[in-house]
Amino acid sequence: MAEWWRDAIVYQIYPRSFADANGDGVGDLRGITARLDYLADLGVDALWLGPVFASPQVDHGYDVADYRAIDPLFGTLADMDVLIAAAHARGIRVTLDFVPNHTSDQHPWFRTAVEAGRGSPERARYHFRDGRGPGGNRPPSNWCAVFGGSSWTRVTEPDGSPGQWYYHLFAAEQPDLNWANPEVLAEFCDVLRFWLDRGVDGFRIDVADGLIKDPAFPDTPDGSPIIPKGADSPVHEVYRAFRRVLDAYPGDRIGVIETGADDEIVALFLRPGEMHLAFSFRFVHAGPDAASLREAVTRTLAANAPVGASATWVTDNHDTTRSVTRYGSLTKLVGAYIPGERRTKVVTAPDLAAGARRARAVALLLLAVPGAAFLYQGQELGLPNVDDLPESLLQDPIWERSGHTVRGRDGCRIPMPWAGDRPPFGFSASPRTWLPMPDSWAGLTVEAEAADLSSMLTLYRDALRLRREHRALGRGALRWDEAASPDVLAFDLATADETVRVVANFGTTPVTLPAGELLVASVPLEEGRLPRDAAAWVRRRS
Ligand code: BGC
Repeated sequence: MAEWWRDAIVYQIYPRSFADANGDGVGDLRGITARLDYLADLGVDALWLGPVFASPQVDHGYDVADYRAIDPLFGTLADMDVLIAAAHARGIRVTLDFVPNHTSDQHPWFRTAVEAGRGSPERARYHFRDGRGPGGNRPPSNWCAVFGGSSWTRVTEPDGSPGQWYYHLFAAEQPDLNWANPEVLAEFCDVLRFWLDRGVDGFRIDVADGLIKDPAFPDTPDGSPIIPKGADSPVHEVYRAFRRVLDAYPGDRIGVIETGADDEIVALFLRPGEMHLAFSFRFVHAGPDAASLREAVTRTLAANAPVGASATWVTDNHDTTRSVTRYGSLTKLVGAYIPGERRTKVVTAPDLAAGARRARAVALLLLAVPGAAFLYQGQELGLPNVDDLPESLLQDPIWERSGHTVRGRDGCRIPMPWAGDRPPFGFSASPRTWLPMPDSWAGLTVEAEAADLSSMLTLYRDALRLRREHRALGRGALRWDEAASPDVLAFDLATADETVRVVANFGTTPVTLPAGELLVASVPLEEGRLPRDAAAWVRRRS
């Protein structure tokens, strides 16, 4: 099948939290293999597995010590081979996380760099610099790390003296590689080949736009790093090289760009000869209101069109508060009239019922707009974020690095509830899971939702089946209905054979749907009309 990825449904697995086969309270590869029938029934085209490579797990696998080995926590290379074969047998492709911006500080390259000392070729694989001030005791620049604190950490030289500093965009245990060094590119192309040879169908590329930094590391007004962007940035040479590696294999192997850059910058990575897909994070940050969702869709499509790229829609992932919680924490309408503003921001405890209702509506947008869509495990169950984990159990390095001011991302990484009426809900044979699961999830298990026609899981299953049956969904040409009221999103998706109208109502007044066959609605219609915070697909009479 040519260019399968252009409208693929990719299911993101966070391996620690999907399914635990060996009973240690942490998910693993054999757990994933055992649950593949669930994913086949759901109707996904591909999986993206978070990092399962050998790692000290400081950033839960985004600190890789050996890119060609599976961490024993998750299993073995043989387990991976079985998983790939079992997924392929079900028609599901497998993509892996690829983490080229930084290694672990336990990677042999970094350990030998520290041992080899100043000016060595080993240090030239990373960004080592002398410090400033007396004895070089101040960091080489004021750049700040994403996880908090300085981006520079000092090493001790082999003779025991205070030494050079190395640069890390994230945690100190994640030293950044020097991508201006051809040895780095050669090694990572080889890592790609290692997994492609094992049958992997592609890679999600972590921090994809961040690989090259200004080598002078000059101070900046706010401590943010200088990462060359733009059409001529040398980072694009890296992606052209990766593309050549992918294209040397049969079967349309892909690269998916992760970057939070502006749409036009993102599109540069999708030019012919570079990568295939890039997440539209604008969609993550949007909504759920008609204006921001429409802007996310139009701006993403407009930026991608000139390079002939497909969009990649996403609402949830392992770094973001789950959408049910986000959408339940909307700005609220207040009674008092504030000149110039219809709404004022009142931060309240999330209304999870409202959030789930809006998430159902957004699901029908996500699965309709043209392009690929990524679903994060548990999104299809409508799991909320878990924001009341005791501080003593927080695991995300952000918690420590921020001096206990930012709780981090654990709340969206809670293990999947599969079955039963109490934790660990079939996730593990152990009652002690790596993050605790809330008692209140008994109604959100796969087992409970599969038996409930009104559940989020049933909605996702129905919508994904309809998307397979109606090629306009996810693939048709999109035309907005400009006559829709400002709180309503309405557009047609047309192919040569049919037109599907998508309507999402984020206002308070029920909306009349156009004539045609109602394919699905996110909630029951009220007197034939679409109520607030709801969406529907209607196959139009031509
Ligand atoms: C990943 C994060 C990770 C970071 C550093 C991000 O893009 O999605 O989970 O902490 O990169 O590797």
